[in-house]
Amino acid sequence: MKGALVPIAMLVCLTACDDMSNQAKQRHYAPAVGPAAVPSNTVEYLDRPSQAPPVTLELLERGQERFRIYCTPCHSELGDGHGMVVQRGFPPPPSYHTEHLRQAPVQHFYDVMTQGYGAMYPFADRVRPEDRWAIAAYIRALQRSQNATDGDISADRRGALE
Ligand code: HEC
Repeated sequence: MKGALVPIAMLVCLTACDDMSNQAKQRHYAPAVGPAAVPSNTVEYLDRPSQAPPVTLELLERGQERFRIYCTPCHSELGDGHGMVVQRGFPPPPSYHTEHLRQAPVQHFYDVMTQGYGAMYPFADRVRPEDRWAIAAYIRALQRSQNATDGDISADRRGALE
């Protein structure tokens, strides 16, 4: 009698398991395709085509402020990729001071923020297009600051170095 129960129990288990695997799943994982619907009164998700604004001191200051909020946790204040989050184990980003990123057009930084890049998530839903341009301009300034030559200093100020 006891022996007969075991196969029955197994059968019940098998059918039960089978049922579960055939159940309709409510949520299939699928990567988001295309822009999400934009809830009103929020930061624009994907922007209209926009162009890099002229670089002014105001733009750079805004860029520096936004950069410090959104990017330094990983990229660090210097942009060398040794931010605090990386020191806690997040995959390290490349330094902004590589030849590849120094040669990249400013648009590239804008696009990386909009779309994300590899392990880096996009910032389009939290950084406005104007601020993305400001950050991109600031990164360019940061790159130049780490690779500056005498030629970057106007002739009338060069004397201050001597
Ligand atoms: C949570 C960490 C994190 C934050 C915050 C972050 N990044 Fe990144 N970033 C990364 C990582 C990691 C990579 C390398 C991704 C890869 O290669 O898979 C990267 C790569 C990049 C690159 C290099 C792309 C290339 O062509 O190699 C740029 C430019 C960049 N980030 C800009 C930014 C800017 C601007 C911000 C702020 C708005 C920012 N990142 C915020 C982690 C971060």
